[in-house]
Amino acid sequence: MSTKQAIQTFAVPNDLESFWIPFTPNRAFKRAPRLIARAKDMHYFTPEGRAVLDGTAGLWCTNAGHNRDPIVAAIQAQAAELDYAPAFQFAHPKSFELASRVAALAPADLNRVFFTNSGSEAADTALKIALAYHNVRGEGSRTRLIGRERGYHGVGFGGISVGGIVANRKFFGSLLAGVDHLPTTYNREHQAFTKGEPDWGAHLADELERIVALHDASTIAAVIVEPMSGSTGVLPPPKGYLQKLRAICDRHRILLIFDEVITGFGRLGYAFAAERYGVTPDMIMFAKGITSGSVPMGGVIARDGIYETFMRGPEHVVELFHGYTYSAHPLACAAGLATLDLYRDERLFERAKALEPKWADAAMGLKGLPGVLDIRTVGLTVGVDLAARPGTPGLRAYAAMERGFHDEGIMMRNTADTIALSPPLIVSEAQIGEIFDKVARVIEAVA
Ligand SMILES: Cc1ncc(COP(=O)(O)O)c(C=O)c1O
Repeated sequence: MSTKQAIQTFAVPNDLESFWIPFTPNRAFKRAPRLIARAKDMHYFTPEGRAVLDGTAGLWCTNAGHNRDPIVAAIQAQAAELDYAPAFQFAHPKSFELASRVAALAPADLNRVFFTNSGSEAADTALKIALAYHNVRGEGSRTRLIGRERGYHGVGFGGISVGGIVANRKFFGSLLAGVDHLPTTYNREHQAFTKGEPDWGAHLADELERIVALHDASTIAAVIVEPMSGSTGVLPPPKGYLQKLRAICDRHRILLIFDEVITGFGRLGYAFAAERYGVTPDMIMFAKGITSGSVPMGGVIARDGIYETFMRGPEHVVELFHGYTYSAHPLACAAGLATLDLYRDERLFERAKALEPKWADAAMGLKGLPGVLDIRTVGLTVGVDLAARPGTPGLRAYAAMERGFHDEGIMMRNTADTIALSPPLIVSEAQIGEIFDKVARVIEAVA
C-alpha cells in the first residue's frame, strides 16, 4: 500500500484537543502525536502506513499477537449472534465455557471465576471478596488490607490504596482506611543485572510478620502482591519470597491474592506465575492476556473454599452484592475462548518459556551502554533502568520511548527512567535481535 493510499484508508483526526488521554502528558503528545491506525501480528502501523515493531504487546496484553484471524472471526461472529445479555440474573453459555477454561488453567482448587472488565475492577473485586469472605464466616474484624511499595493494581480506589506508586496516590485524598504496605523487593545494590529471580531478598517477606505483630492477625483480611511487579519496571520476586509470604499468610489465616494481570497467560512461560513459583494463592486476578487485548475483560479466580463459604442462606438471595453490567460480556467471552484456543494450539506459553534464555541474553547485551544502571529480566519481560538526567527525572526514558516510535520504529514503555519491554509471545528469535538492536540505538541516542 502506498503512503497516499494509507492516508486515505486511515483518516487522520484534525482535532486532537477533545480527547483527554490517560496516563499521558497530553500537551507533549498533541505537539508530536504517536498515532496507531492498524496492527497485525508483531507490528503496529501508523496512519501513514509506517511499521512499528511491538516491543510491549500493547500494554502487556496482546500476548497472541495482533489481529489474529481466529480472534477477529470469533468477535465478528459473536457480534452478529448475541450483542448483550444481562450480567445479573441471566447468563449466556459462553460465560460458563470461558470460566471453565480459565479454571482449568489455574492451579489447584482455584476454580471459581468472577468476571470484570479490567484489571482495576479485578483489584476491587478481589479485595471486596476478601473482606466479605471474612465477614460471612464470622471474622468481620479482619478488615485490614496489605499491599506493597511499588505495587500496581490499577487505578480504582481499592487498587491505588494497596498499590505503592506515589504519583498514583498522592493527589487522591485519604484512600481506603486500614491499609499497610510491605517493602518493595527491589534492591539494586544486591540484585543489579540479574536474569530471572534474584538470590537476595526472600527475607523481605518477613516484614509481613512485623505488620501482623503491629496490627494483630485478627484485623488482617488479605495480602495482595504482583508475583512480578510490572508497571514499576519489572521487579521479579526474589527466590523463595512468594513461598515465605504464603507460609506467613497460612500461619495467620490471611488470604493471599496474586495480581496476575500482567503475569497471567504466558508472560512468564506458564499459564500463571503461581505455577512457575509453585505457590497457590487464594485468589488470582487476571485481565489483559485473557482476550489478548482484543476486548476489555478481567476477572478473579477464587479457591473453591472461598466460593463455598458464600453459598449459604436462602437460595433466592444474592450471595455476593457485587458485579458489573458488562461482566462476562458476550464479545469478551468469544474473544477469550478464541484466545485460549490460540494459546493452546500454538503452545505459546511453552514458546515463551523456551525463548526466555535467549531473550535474557539479548537483553543483557544492553549492559555497558551509556546510562544503563540495571537490567532485570524474567519470562518475556525486561526492565532497563537509565540514569535520570539531572533535574528532569523521567525525561530520558520518555525521550527514549518517543525516539523509539518516531525514529526506530519500535514501541517501548517508559515508567520514570525505566524502559520496559514485553513483546507478544509470538516474537521470533530474529525479532528479539531486532528489538534489542533498536533499543540499543535509542539508548545511545538519548545518552
Ligand atoms: C498488575 C496490574 N494490575 C492491575 C492493572 C490494571 O488493569 P487495567 O488497566 O485493565 O484496569 C494493571 C495494568 O497495567 C496491572 O499491571
